[in-house]
Amino acid sequence: PAELPLAGRILAISAGGTREPLDPVRYLGNRSSGRQGIALAKAAMAAGARVRFIAAHMDQPAPEGVELSTASTARQLQAAVNEAARGADVLIMSAAVADFRPAEYVDSKIKKSDEHADPVITLVRNPDILALLVADRAAQGLVGDLPGLIVGFAAETGDAENSVLEYGAAKLARKGCELLVVNEVGENLTFGTDENSVTILFANAAEPVHAAGSKDDVAAAIIAAVAGALRG
Ligand code: C5P
Repeated sequence: PAELPLAGRILAISAGGTREPLDPVRYLGNRSSGRQGIALAKAAMAAGARVRFIAAHMDQPAPEGVELSTASTARQLQAAVNEAARGADVLIMSAAVADFRPAEYVDSKIKKSDEHADPVITLVRNPDILALLVADRAAQGLVGDLPGLIVGFAAETGDAENSVLEYGAAKLARKGCELLVVNEVGENLTFGTDENSVTILFANAAEPVHAAGSKDDVAAAIIAAVAGALRG
């Protein structure tokens, strides 16, 4: 039988949404379900890959057969991704990472009170896991053990000045990864649904690939693009 397209390959895939705690009972989160990342892990295994799956918060369990690690906050996810990426052929960053976290964590539940003013939450930036890995890889040079193929995701909304794809192309250049999967988000689009519609952009200026349908269909298209890019 013909060899599977990702036979012998190791893929690190992050999925789900991070949560940034405010106090022991509250957090800032996002509506990522993890379903696209789960579909990617299944498609990668079906193509013959070993999958290191780094799960943030998801609304369903990680698929059977992956090497699983878990993380809650962006900084925990960064540590887990950095570890999983070492020695992997590909990193797919499908996790929805909080760009900001509360500047302070309050040890006891923040209380309502009539004497005090309503609380104000100050946010600070989280590390950009993907961009930092790209920079680390460049610093390692030829002896490095970080993936040669890094895939980012961009959930974009278009506006009067720029289309979704224009924002995607700018993000691809800024982040320095090899592939960027761009999708359009809005109230009822993508997050937490079973359908997805994406455009895959390539840093090497190959023609963009459009894929739409179920998250399994979209995962198959992304994994096919990854296998194609690995073949060179
Ligand atoms: O800049 P933006 O958040 O739109 O970038 C999205 C891509 O970057 C995703 O692949 C996401 O997993 C990754 N990301 C990251 N670290 C962050 C924010 C996003 O790796 N702090």
